[in-house]
Amino acid sequence: MSDRQVILTGDTPTGQLHLGHFVGSVRRRLELQETCDCFFLLANMHAFTTRADDPGGIRGDTLEIVRDYLAMGIDPAKAAIVLQTEVPAIAELTYLFAMLLPFNRVMRNPTLKEEIRVKELGDTYSFGFPLYAVGQTADILVFRAHSVPVGEDQVPHIELTREVARRFNKMYCGVPEDVEDDDPIMSEKGVFPIPRADVGRVGRLVGTDGVNKMSKSLNNAIYLTDTPKQVKKKLGQLYTGRQSMTDPGDPDNGLMQWLETFVEENRAAEVKDRYVRGDNIGDGHVKAEIAEAISALLEPMQERRAQYDGDDDTIIDILRDGTARANVVAEETLSMAKEAAGLGFFRRSLCLK
Ligand code: TRP
Repeated sequence: MSDRQVILTGDTPTGQLHLGHFVGSVRRRLELQETCDCFFLLANMHAFTTRADDPGGIRGDTLEIVRDYLAMGIDPAKAAIVLQTEVPAIAELTYLFAMLLPFNRVMRNPTLKEEIRVKELGDTYSFGFPLYAVGQTADILVFRAHSVPVGEDQVPHIELTREVARRFNKMYCGVPEDVEDDDPIMSEKGVFPIPRADVGRVGRLVGTDGVNKMSKSLNNAIYLTDTPKQVKKKLGQLYTGRQSMTDPGDPDNGLMQWLETFVEENRAAEVKDRYVRGDNIGDGHVKAEIAEAISALLEPMQERRAQYDGDDDTIIDILRDGTARANVVAEETLSMAKEAAGLGFFRRSLCLK
């Protein structure tokens, strides 16, 4: 094993990725894939928590996300793109970890509660729905990840993961009860490093409505596949409330966030300065500049994406390769964990090809 940092993060396949995903997470992954051992997991089983009746849709979305990853510049030679449902060790660890967590502790997870509220799941959600939070701890720990780049909303899941790792190491690996997370004894004796959440700086890109976080369901997203014309049109909807070219603009509004996110730094500073002073610069002008920058960003992505259009076989080959690399680590972790938990009766080897 190398001593490089291990990074794990994932996405539940729920539809195409948009610019919010690029800014909030994928851009960071492009940096990480250069220097760390990266695993990017397609959490396709998690999609079944609320869409079990739509397997065809889940399969399609899974393949589309791989296309979006490749388009945005994730390089399968550097980072493993992994299909969750073909890493059996994840399911096995989920079962074991479910025994280490009080039921009420899982149900207190604020992200789960929020999802139940927002998706109006009431009390009819499946048993598997809260189980996915336990599953997510296994997604992370099976790779013995050090760091998990995620958005703010995922932090409670990482907290749960840290709890499982601590408890496992103390219960089964002889790590004394009072040892702190960063004490070398934790990593020397324990099976699992205590993973950190790596929360991105621009966690949240405002959507084209200028108010809410960009999201598919709010219909305020720009997709990787949008043409320059569509980008322009969508940006046109970004509402600022500013009335004229000489009104002093709000330095913290959605438009300024977009400017600073997509336009080259010096130019953005210059435009912002004029905007804030109301120095004869209209919203329309600023929007046009941003639209141009976004289209320039999207163009190479669209070219890359076009290579894989209609070609599911190549996408599946990429998944097969990434998943095979993942299974080498995952099986090793599983046997370490079983050994520690008194389940190492005999060795098995699965043929995972
Ligand atoms: N729950 C995450 C989301 O909906 C996706 C996910 C699944 C994930 N497994 C993970 C993220 C492991 C980080 C680590 O966005």
